[in-house]
Amino acid sequence: MPSSSITSSSNSYSLWLFCLFLCCSATHTHANEALLVPKQLSLSAINGTQQLSISWVGGTATTFDMLILRTELNETVFYKTISVPLISGWHQWTWTSAEPLECTSLSIKVRARDGQRASEWSNTQIHQGYDIPSNPKFQVLPQDKVVPVGASSTFCCIVGEGKLLRSMKLHRDVLKTTRLSRRAYSTVVVNKRPSDHSGNNVVCQDDQKTLTGSVIFAGYPPLSTDFVCETRNLTSAVCHWNEVDTYLYGKRATDYSINERICPENTQEEKQKNCTLDGWAGSWTLVAVNPLGQHNLTDSAELSHRVRPVKPNDLSAVVHAWNATILWVWEHSSYSSFPLVCEVAVTSRGYTTNRTFSGVGLQSVVLSDMHPNEEYTLQIRCGAQKNFWKWGDWSEEFSFKTRTTVPDAPDVWLWMNRDNTGQVVWKPLTQRQSHGRLKGYQVTFQSSEENLQHTVNVSPDTSAAPFNLSHMATLGSGKIQASVIAENEDGASAPSAVLIPLRWTGMSS
Ligand SMILES: *[C@@H]1O[C@H](CO)[C@@H](O)[C@H](O)[C@H]1NC(C)=O
Ligand SMILES: *[C@@H]1O[C@H](CO)[C@@H](O)[C@H](O)[C@H]1NC(C)=O
Ligand SMILES: *[C@@H]1O[C@H](CO)[C@@H](O)[C@H](O)[C@H]1NC(C)=O
Ligand SMILES: *[C@@H]1O[C@H](CO)[C@@H](O)[C@H](O)[C@H]1NC(C)=O
Ligand SMILES: *[C@@H]1O[C@H](CO)[C@@H](O)[C@H](O)[C@H]1NC(C)=O
Ligand SMILES: *[C@@H]1O[C@H](CO)[C@@H](O)[C@H](O)[C@H]1NC(C)=O
Ligand SMILES: *[C@@H]1O[C@H](CO)[C@@H](O)[C@H](O)[C@H]1NC(C)=O
Ligand SMILES: *[C@@H]1O[C@H](CO)[C@@H](O)[C@H](O)[C@H]1NC(C)=O
Repeated sequence: MPSSSITSSSNSYSLWLFCLFLCCSATHTHANEALLVPKQLSLSAINGTQQLSISWVGGTATTFDMLILRTELNETVFYKTISVPLISGWHQWTWTSAEPLECTSLSIKVRARDGQRASEWSNTQIHQGYDIPSNPKFQVLPQDKVVPVGASSTFCCIVGEGKLLRSMKLHRDVLKTTRLSRRAYSTVVVNKRPSDHSGNNVVCQDDQKTLTGSVIFAGYPPLSTDFVCETRNLTSAVCHWNEVDTYLYGKRATDYSINERICPENTQEEKQKNCTLDGWAGSWTLVAVNPLGQHNLTDSAELSHRVRPVKPNDLSAVVHAWNATILWVWEHSSYSSFPLVCEVAVTSRGYTTNRTFSGVGLQSVVLSDMHPNEEYTLQIRCGAQKNFWKWGDWSEEFSFKTRTTVPDAPDVWLWMNRDNTGQVVWKPLTQRQSHGRLKGYQVTFQSSEENLQHTVNVSPDTSAAPFNLSHMATLGSGKIQASVIAENEDGASAPSAVLIPLRWTGMSS
């Protein structure tokens, strides 16, 4: 590196002159100036990764030869010239291992390099694996690993002292292994699919057919959608979002926080999540974190634009025959000054109609155009009248029956025969026209002239009253009026009348 050699020569020039002057020693030292041997080599594994942070003190050099060996078998894993800047007196470089660092011991040494010249090697530092003789355990490493779906990951099996590996398997698939040391073997596992609830087992068997294993959890980094905050009680915010399945559960499941406040865990496998925050922040950041990553979503809004009312409670009714007043109670007193629009879905005889009403703090509505003596079922939900956001929850279903009242007047006509007889006929009242339990009909024959009258009561299933004109003669000579009323427990309907002509033109005898 020409630039660095110029600086170093100008820096060391006076020193060199001084040396020359003092010692009158050899004049060729400048060209062979020894590169400093790296010192204070130190290693530290970075938690949760397969990375080893290597640092040392190495003078002003910026290129080094790095040598990493598997300690036991003296196999080179890494040997390269690397360029490492000098930062506050230290060189620091991070190496990523193909295997978990616990699999086998690694020996690391470094030397400074300047073109063709190299320093002596530093002292060797060893990063100890779990395969050292003092650790006789038969085990698979790492334990309980979380990996992204599709990624490959390396596991190793450390057999007991004096044992050999028989096989490593994922499910029933035998995996290809590489020997790392006397006791350690590694294998690459590719998880093409998300793992089951309890993960997938990587099983190692030694030559004594003893088994041990580890669990691999293949899933996805967190992903949330539809993050939105609203208020139910006009004070605090309830934020909702949907979780896209990560296939990671339990302690590996996604943790959520909003505006740096941790959201308590919702019921484990609900995909719809929610979290309540005191007060209305106006803007929110949802941070979703799992072992594979992080995902953020934001939302912001004014409180008055995000009101989704709770359900109306304790419905009651003041009923009349033709109308009903429905009353309910709001759980939150803050609603009393809030303009609401409410929808009432009224069902009777299997037919539903919706009616809307609005008002400040609405807690009653009058339903008119009802039918007497009729069963009704209704539900109510409300929203903000201004800046409508979403309908609130429906109330519980509420049923009531309207009051009974006098029946409708029946539809009446006349049926005449050729033999001076006839019938007053009416259309039987339907249940809806009866307005209560029908007691019967009353038919009254009345002459207009002499004010004589004759009344017949008939049962509710009768719909005709016969008459014989010959007998009618006793009622007078003028017209006869037949009127019919329907009666129920509330009383009589208005009368419906027909006129009976006394001389029937079609009469033959
Ligand atoms: C590394 O992880 C282990 C166990 O997971 C823990 O005990 C240790 O404190 C961690 N070290 C650092 C530096 O985070
Ligand atoms: C390790 O291998 C290197 C060459 O890669 C050799 O120089 C050295 O002597 C070997 N050491 C042992 C202990 O076998
Ligand atoms: C609103 O609801 C939250 C949580 O449900 C509660 O902590 C808060 O006290 C409520 N505020 C009012 C005014 O009701
Ligand atoms: C929040 O989610 C839980 C289930 O995880 C559910 O029981 C609850 O009703 C939800 N709360 C709201 C306000 O949506
Ligand atoms: C998500 O938000 C948090 C906190 O606001 C922040 O620290 C983090 O960097 C963000 N992450 C991403 C991926 O944007
Ligand atoms: C409801 O009906 C009752 C009795 O029929 C009547 O007195 C009342 O005025 C009616 N109310 C409304 C709001 O129509
Ligand atoms: C009444 O409202 C409900 C819910 O919004 C809807 O499903 C239904 O179709 C509406 N019915 C009528 C008759 O408008
Ligand atoms: C009608 O009344 C007359 C006189 O009483 C009687 O002769 C006649 O038979 C009656 N007709 C019928 C169909 O009963």
